[in-house]
Amino acid sequence: MIYYFSSTGNSQYVAIRLAEMLGERTCDIYKKEKEATDAQSDETVIFVFPVHAWGPAKEMSYFIESEWVNKSNGKQSFYAVATCGDDCGNTDRLIDSLLYRCTGQHVTGVYSVTMPNTYVLMPGFDVDSDETARQKIDAAPERISAIAEAIQQKRPAPELYERGCHAWLKHYVVRPLFQFYLKLNFFRVKNDCISCGRCAGHCFFGIIKMQDGKPKWENKKGDMRCTQCLACYHRCPLHAIEFGSITRRKGQYLHPNLTKRTKK
Ligand SMILES: Cc1cc2nc3c(=O)[nH]c(=O)nc-3n(C[C@H](O)[C@H](O)[C@H](O)COP(=O)(O)O)c2cc1C
Repeated sequence: MIYYFSSTGNSQYVAIRLAEMLGERTCDIYKKEKEATDAQSDETVIFVFPVHAWGPAKEMSYFIESEWVNKSNGKQSFYAVATCGDDCGNTDRLIDSLLYRCTGQHVTGVYSVTMPNTYVLMPGFDVDSDETARQKIDAAPERISAIAEAIQQKRPAPELYERGCHAWLKHYVVRPLFQFYLKLNFFRVKNDCISCGRCAGHCFFGIIKMQDGKPKWENKKGDMRCTQCLACYHRCPLHAIEFGSITRRKGQYLHPNLTKRTKK
């Protein structure tokens, strides 16, 4: 069983391709197809998710914490596949300790696939050029089939994981800063908004509410707050969603299998 979370389609693509190669079923955790307990008692369980700030996307951590505690019987084997724009830092260690805390089992293998970048909320970060995005997308099938082979052989394969440089610095210094930044909510919508509601419809934690036909980002407390996953920003058909003025000249991205990609 492959459980996946994907804001903009990269992880969805990887999950579906892996499922085809391994003959596995997929479950989109966004659609809340709660089949966690349906995973067979001795089944291979694979989690596919984007890397957010050199760690697993909060949505996947939340799913594992809420669905997997006390549900594993010790006979399932766990794998994780992270998709990233550049590198994953210590995502492998974080997902392993989360799974161990929730299920009492370690992850057998953590792998990564480099896909087009989606992060745009800080100065200096933007989506990849069309050419870079195309190169990453073209390289993905070979990587996914190597990962499928490693999973079939139950092989951890550290060569299939992109830790990147200065992982400790990113983990201990940049990640906490990033997490502070996550608390900022400068999302707003321009007058171009056509009230299609796509942003609200794709918000994992239901933070976006349509009020008088326009999206409003509520600041919920605790776990259920905006993770800046950017599903709203990238799916807006008119690029009408802004994060303060930071995103003014930034691009949008969706995996081509999900829907057409545009760059402003
Ligand atoms: C909030 C946020 C944080 C991100 N952090 C990282 C990161 O630390 N390292 C990295 O290489 N890519 C990072 N990215 C890029 C995504 O991990 C990458 O584009 C991923 O493939 C998106 O997958 P999806 O389309 O399934 O959501 C980040 C993206 C977002 C939205």
